Amino acid sequence: MRKKIVAGNWKMNKSFEQAEALICDILEEIDGLDSRLANVVICPPAVYLEMAVDLARETSISIGAQNMSQFTSGAYTGEISATMLQSMDVQYCILGHSERRQYFNETDEILAAKVKTALENVIKPIFCCGEALAQREAGVHFDVVKSQIENALFTLTEEQFAEVVIAYEPIWAIGTGVTASPQQAQEMHEFIRGVIAAKYGIAVAEETSILYGGSCNAKNAKELFANPDIDGGLIGGASLVAADFVTIIKSF
Ligand code: PGA
Repeated sequence: MRKKIVAGNWKMNKSFEQAEALICDILEEIDGLDSRLANVVICPPAVYLEMAVDLARETSISIGAQNMSQFTSGAYTGEISATMLQSMDVQYCILGHSERRQYFNETDEILAAKVKTALENVIKPIFCCGEALAQREAGVHFDVVKSQIENALFTLTEEQFAEVVIAYEPIWAIGTGVTASPQQAQEMHEFIRGVIAAKYGIAVAEETSILYGGSCNAKNAKELFANPDIDGGLIGGASLVAADFVTIIKSF
């Protein structure tokens, strides 16, 4: 059975004290929760990773980064490598978020390199894909998502691909309060699973966790997660409030 995952993408938010308090509150509220119900991943800003890993040690929560370099080491001022993340027991890394594609010019080619580097360092990529509003209105959303997945992931071996988590995040739904309807999300998730099945076979596709992201919150999570191909969520705004995030975790 594929994993149910709820991942919190904190983006560039919270002071050190606030970040620490938020993790402690989440841990307290999910204390005793059956970890088989949902795997929880928290992705704080990179400067808080060490603290987050320490707090999450010996709990059911995993810690992820929001970005990493495609390069292994060397003269890349300001960058953080997969080796560094691995050496700090970071288990996941969000890659290909639309904000990074848009503001930091991350291309499919760069993302393919990042995904490979992550996997070589035992970091599980949470690979984001999703169309802009104009692309959906033009009816090319399936093509856009398919090519994002093909270009960044389809040089992976079957064994490598098995470690990848996909997050479908329509750009028009991110931080806007406009969520994809459960039907729109399910339709795209089913399509993505089909794209994976065509390349890696049905067994691999059935084991791939495909998360929905984009204004997923405590109110709408249950309806979204009830769909057969929606295996959880990548949560932005609502992951910054412990009670909301925990409600989402309990929405399966
Ligand atoms: P949002 O962000 O939940 O605030 O829409 C999701 C994301 O960008 O991962």
